[in-house]
Amino acid sequence: MDDDLLAGTRILVIGGDREVAESLRKDLSAAGSPSVDLVPALALAAAQAAAAQPQVVLCLGDADPAAVRERLDPLGLGSAPPVLAVDEVLDGGRLGAAGGRRLRLVLEHRDLRARQGELEAIVAGQALSAFRDTEAIRLDALHRLALAAEYRDDNSPEHTQRVAALAARMARHLGEGDRAVWLVRQAAPLHDLGKIAIPDSILLKPGRLEPEEFEVVKTHAVLGARVLEGSDSELLGVAERIARSHHERWDGGGYPEGLAGEAIPLPARLVAVADVFDVLVHERPYKDAWTVEDAAGEIRAGAGAQFDPAVVDAFDALGAGGWTAALKSS
Ligand SMILES: [Fe+2]
Ligand SMILES: [Fe+2]
Repeated sequence: MDDDLLAGTRILVIGGDREVAESLRKDLSAAGSPSVDLVPALALAAAQAAAAQPQVVLCLGDADPAAVRERLDPLGLGSAPPVLAVDEVLDGGRLGAAGGRRLRLVLEHRDLRARQGELEAIVAGQALSAFRDTEAIRLDALHRLALAAEYRDDNSPEHTQRVAALAARMARHLGEGDRAVWLVRQAAPLHDLGKIAIPDSILLKPGRLEPEEFEVVKTHAVLGARVLEGSDSELLGVAERIARSHHERWDGGGYPEGLAGEAIPLPARLVAVADVFDVLVHERPYKDAWTVEDAAGEIRAGAGAQFDPAVVDAFDALGAGGWTAALKSS
């Protein structure tokens, strides 16, 4: 028999009477195994396997492979080495050349399976990181778009981030899940993206707008939505709905479509409240900054008319602590 057939292979032999076990150990050692441990009883199998780290377990006598497997891997994680009844490899009571080769094949098969598992994990990991890269690129592009929108606004550049933070807090309070809250947080900064297309003469005009000028400003909702529409990205879809509908009113009196109630997408209803609140508490060329309490009173007064009453309840429930935290989160 090849004396290096089992070179480097650690083996655990369980059960059997002492004489048979010893003779098998001799055969296995002669075939090159550097470590053959004998365990007389099943009860000791797990401890011995943990200590010896065998690559294969052979069951002698009454030791039942299924019971041994159960001992070595009670949770069924596939972490146990192969467990074979000795009859599967023995040749007329001795290991013999054919038995050694069978044992070798079992081990090679296991190595291949382990290698295959590693390869599958690598491929899955690469797919995941490609997906993450795409998501990261999309997010980065969105942040840059939001930044571009901020340059076109009379707000402080942090306005869009504060609106997003407050809208996300209200979404959370309404019981939205992690993904929905995240989508609102990422998409809300783009609510005024369409202002990129509004002429400076109107957008930056000091003082009151003429009615026809205000009509031009109102087009920013649809213009922003057009920039964002048509993508298969869920995030861009939410951003599009926010851009299009953040000036709709709960009572149907808003623009651009005059949608009412729950026909207005929830992310847009959230941004409507957060946007007005943030504008009120900050100074604008045409107005002083309101106190947080006065602004909150204005939001409450709009419940059921300008704003979704449920969103206003969520706003109220956040309280001064929640509003101030959102104001600081730009
Ligand atoms: Fe707007
Ligand atoms: Fe805004």
